[in-house]
Amino acid sequence: MSIGRISRIAISTGGGDAPGLNAVIRAIVLAACQRGWECHGIRDGYNGLMMPEQFPNGGVIPLTRESVAGITHLGGTILGTTNRGNPAKFPTPQADGSILEVDRTGELVERFNDAGLDALITIGGDGSLSIGYQLACKGLRVVGVPKTIDNDLDRTFMTFGFDTAVSFATECLDRLHTTATSHRRVMVVEVMGRYAGWIALHAGIAGNADVILIPEVPFDIEKVAEYVNERERKGRRYTIVVVAEGARPAGGERAVLGKAIGQAEKLGGIGDIVAHELEARTGKEARTVVLGHLLRGGSPTSFDRLMALRFGAAAVRALDEGQNSVMVALQPPVVRYEPLKEAVRRMKTVPLDCDTMDTARDLGICFGD
Ligand code: F6P
Repeated sequence: MSIGRISRIAISTGGGDAPGLNAVIRAIVLAACQRGWECHGIRDGYNGLMMPEQFPNGGVIPLTRESVAGITHLGGTILGTTNRGNPAKFPTPQADGSILEVDRTGELVERFNDAGLDALITIGGDGSLSIGYQLACKGLRVVGVPKTIDNDLDRTFMTFGFDTAVSFATECLDRLHTTATSHRRVMVVEVMGRYAGWIALHAGIAGNADVILIPEVPFDIEKVAEYVNERERKGRRYTIVVVAEGARPAGGERAVLGKAIGQAEKLGGIGDIVAHELEARTGKEARTVVLGHLLRGGSPTSFDRLMALRFGAAAVRALDEGQNSVMVALQPPVVRYEPLKEAVRRMKTVPLDCDTMDTARDLGICFGD
């Protein structure tokens, strides 16, 4: 494929938001301006291009130095995002009134070209980056930026948003410790993370949890109850349990809230199940706190801001260097480019033999196995 000169690039933010998105956008715009490129933002994932009529102020908006001033520290995304607009599975009404998932990536590439855009920087998780890869396969020039609080993207040491989520969850655990101790309760804290236990593991260790339940280690509730009872016998009359939303009992199912057309499965509810089962087995009062979307809100930590700014600037450098179909990736101490194809091949879950797991076990944390 020939690599032409770039003068107009577009940015898209897709999937769940994550603290640091605005910092990436700012870095891209400033780095593009330095090169004399025009920068445009597609609203709500790709909806701004797919359904421009829904955006009275334009589905694709110009981004200038002025429009990105002072946004580095802001959560969310100034472009908007969606997890309902996957162009490869676009919810499309049929003549009989039903709605089917239709692959409209070809049409999206056409619209992209018609808009006179030379390249796309897609900032997203596995879903958005897979779409980016499909668009690249259809001839679009694409660079991906890995984003997700879940930290489940392969080929990058970390994604921005994760540190902010872990920091907030840790603060919540600190707060819950005092009330759990005072009331001698079991507090079950459910955190996001989809099918990976990164948030639960990191926040659980940093926040002194007694039990951490993650998808990578199916748990036995009897073992968790025995652990709580043992603490009771030793005079430690409270227990903090962190449970990842994707955790499941050995031989059992994940707690799923539902699945709509064009959307990923919605996880949630395992916290209540664990609390209920522990209360029944230990006789101790157990309460659930679901941190949910609070983990995605707020200002990015300085670690996430810096990573996001580095990623944004690196994405522009990648385009300038003629790279295509790559994802910028943190491989400490440097930011590198990884083939998008490889980055989306598999999900990065917690390796059971990593030193963070060893640390947790050395601290006596129970995984219910
Ligand atoms: O991928 C980020 C994430 O926050 C997951 O941790 C969670 O399962 C999902 O998104 C929730 O998505 P929604 O905002 O659609 O509820």
